[in-house]
Amino acid sequence: MNKIENSFLNKDQFGDDFLWGVSTAAFQIEGAHDADGKGSSIWDVFTSQKGKIKNGHHALTACDFYNSYQNDIDLIKELNIPNFRFSISWTRIMPTGTDSVNQAGIDYYNKIINSLLASGIEPWITLYHWDLPYALEKKGGWTNRESVTWFSEYVAICAQHFGDRVKNWMVINEPSVFTGAGYFLGIHAPGKKGITNYLKAMHHVTLATAAGAKIVRNLVPDANIGTTFSCTHIEPATQSAKDVEAAKRVDTLLNRTFIEPILGLGYPQADLPVLKKLNNYILEDDLNNLSFDFDFIGLQCYTREVVKSAMLIPYIGAELISAEKRNVISTDMGWEVYPPALYYVLKKFNEYKNIKKIIITENGAAFPDTLSNGKVYDIKRTHYIQDHLEQILKAKEDGLNVEGYFVWSLTDNFEWAEGYNARFGLIHVDFETQQRTIKHSGLWFKDFLS
Ligand code: NOJ
Repeated sequence: MNKIENSFLNKDQFGDDFLWGVSTAAFQIEGAHDADGKGSSIWDVFTSQKGKIKNGHHALTACDFYNSYQNDIDLIKELNIPNFRFSISWTRIMPTGTDSVNQAGIDYYNKIINSLLASGIEPWITLYHWDLPYALEKKGGWTNRESVTWFSEYVAICAQHFGDRVKNWMVINEPSVFTGAGYFLGIHAPGKKGITNYLKAMHHVTLATAAGAKIVRNLVPDANIGTTFSCTHIEPATQSAKDVEAAKRVDTLLNRTFIEPILGLGYPQADLPVLKKLNNYILEDDLNNLSFDFDFIGLQCYTREVVKSAMLIPYIGAELISAEKRNVISTDMGWEVYPPALYYVLKKFNEYKNIKKIIITENGAAFPDTLSNGKVYDIKRTHYIQDHLEQILKAKEDGLNVEGYFVWSLTDNFEWAEGYNARFGLIHVDFETQQRTIKHSGLWFKDFLS
């Protein structure tokens, strides 16, 4: 039994090869937005615009990981976490996105990689976690087909500089979220809206995922290459044919649209007719260039959604019934706490025959933590993680493919449009002083991993 919390979970139940880790992203933690030659990204610009981020928060300093990385790497070690996922900020490496390389950016990530390795922590790089160079956005960003070439150039630079020491690579993070929120709804950077922007971005990002993976394969010997997808368990509000059909469309949009072309299955146009408009942007030969044989697929699951038919909602004809309306327990993001979602999602993605390995590359929860007497008793987060781990165990017992679990996130950080109010960390951050305090959940995870 665990020393910290009365849980029957034991790391050994997951097997010796199960991967344990913690995930972060550059823009959410680094700060130092213009240090040492870094160029502006779409998120630097978006956060500087009035009214885009709750409470006017910005990420000029964020968790100051740029300067305090050694301290945070020491904390990862203290928590016994063997794998650390972080992303590369494209504009630290290439300030205008293409052509010139900024040596200071390369030096910075070399310091992080070397420090991790010296601490016995395995580095896991995400190449793109949403911070597109602003100079490229001015040329249309992901809506411009050239983005595939720009991204390929950047990936090659990263692979050449870091591939001698880093073996674990993730090409793109949650394409459905950043294209949906950033190019269709306009609530994330770059703030573009509309179906045309969205579909163009979707197709170019998918091409870039496969192209980037091929470059890593060619340049990094023995690389372990993955890419990550957000996924959500979807249920119809009722068993009426209308709701069941609506749920199927939402499931297609949120869970299938991005992964199926990567797996060589093409876009799921039959189950979501609006995707037929993609044919305007698909050029000859594209279908052969959309897929890649990934070593692993990263799944990021936080909740479930309940869906009802709503024919007036364009393209999807469906509506999500919020956790609040359903009167169920939820996190600070308004997401229902529903651990079986993770089991159902694993079951669903196990149905794809050509996924070699599944790793949960993100799971975690935002709750309103309070620091008192130097402690944060975040029992809800501890239970959230434990309950999700139980679902993974159940999946393993059923013989499902799942070989790792990364908590989102190491420290509280900049939660995109939500700013700093949604705290996801195992470690609390006082954003005035940058003081770190390991939360109860972090102490539990440390004990669990010891
Ligand atoms: C998904 C994203 O990858 C990450 O950046 C975000 O902070 C978490 N989920 C929580 O919303």
